Amino acid sequence: MVDLIGQYEKIQPEIDKAILDVVRSSAYINGPEVKNFQAELEKYLGVKHVIPCANGTDALQIAMMALGLKQGDEVITADFTYAATAEVIALLGLKPILVDVYPDTFTINIEAIKKAITPNTKAIVPVHLFGQCAEMEELMKLAKEHNLYIIEDVAQAIGVDYTYADGKKVKAGTIGHIGCTSFFPSKNLGCYGDGGAMFTNNEELGKKMKMIANHGQSVQYYHDVIGVNSRLDSIQAAVLRVKLRHLDEYATARQKAAAYYDKALANHPKIQIPARNTHSTHVFHQYTLVLKNADRNKLREHLASKEIPAMIYYPVPLHLQKAYKDPRYTEGAFPVTENLCKSVISLPIHTEMNEETQGYIVASVLEFLK
Ligand SMILES: Cc1ncc(COP(=O)(O)O)c(C=O)c1O
Repeated sequence: MVDLIGQYEKIQPEIDKAILDVVRSSAYINGPEVKNFQAELEKYLGVKHVIPCANGTDALQIAMMALGLKQGDEVITADFTYAATAEVIALLGLKPILVDVYPDTFTINIEAIKKAITPNTKAIVPVHLFGQCAEMEELMKLAKEHNLYIIEDVAQAIGVDYTYADGKKVKAGTIGHIGCTSFFPSKNLGCYGDGGAMFTNNEELGKKMKMIANHGQSVQYYHDVIGVNSRLDSIQAAVLRVKLRHLDEYATARQKAAAYYDKALANHPKIQIPARNTHSTHVFHQYTLVLKNADRNKLREHLASKEIPAMIYYPVPLHLQKAYKDPRYTEGAFPVTENLCKSVISLPIHTEMNEETQGYIVASVLEFLK
């Protein structure tokens, strides 16, 4: 689905030097590379505080811990997402409240959120799924009206630009109270292991998240709150510093690949191509089709027989996962997500695509659907 070797080969001298410099410095934990990456990402995102941590799941957990949410507080999130989003809500003893998504952009449905808000609702976690923003301006209005926190899950959408109705542009993850991201290798900004970060413009939240990620201490061996051990290591930070310099060109490469797929597949009666949110750019972490009247498994097998990988993100809605079973949510509770889970298929998309490969992929898809 991604070509990380091809990407590495293009920047090999920079990466090799960055990694070796860390090895030679022996500053493996909390070294200067971590602080430099943090400052460079703050500048790139136009946000006051970036707090690096060990992975995207930790980022969501630390964000929720910093907001001081209490057992039983309700947190609304999308049913159509990676499990990590709901996992940390449940793990902290909070109550995940799931809502459906839009059938075209796959992002969280604002009208559904309005219906799900109760006096116990404390936060909403929109997921910028597959590489574009949820309807953030509407969401922020709703949050203000009901005094709710917004934690943006930006794991799949780092670098995305969101444009407000008045024309103001900001980066995804800097709109809500906290943004959380993952640097998992296949992410748009991925390291060579695990990594993650929280972003915020709020001084107090920034300090709190930094403290929680570091065992609840701001001064060594003085623990003010119960925290966790969640660090980005220096080698990963060094890799990320190099890749951050290429992030915009990586987005352009993914957008070019998406445009090629669009052109080839747009008018097919059995295919719905990914819709764009008019307020957001799309960085195509995934290029996801919705199939109509076509056998998805057989298409996947057909593509596999031609050595073309294709993935199902995601095959089971959260509310039908064993771990998140809840008597409130039975089959049919979220019809859009349920339908998407039965009919989506993601084609390979990455920074190293070329037209020859894409031509082969498209021809193979069309051949099957004929
Ligand atoms: C939407 C979303 N949220 C959270 C995560 C968790 O990130 P990590 O794997 O770094 O813990 C992921 C990673 O796949 C993700 O896609």
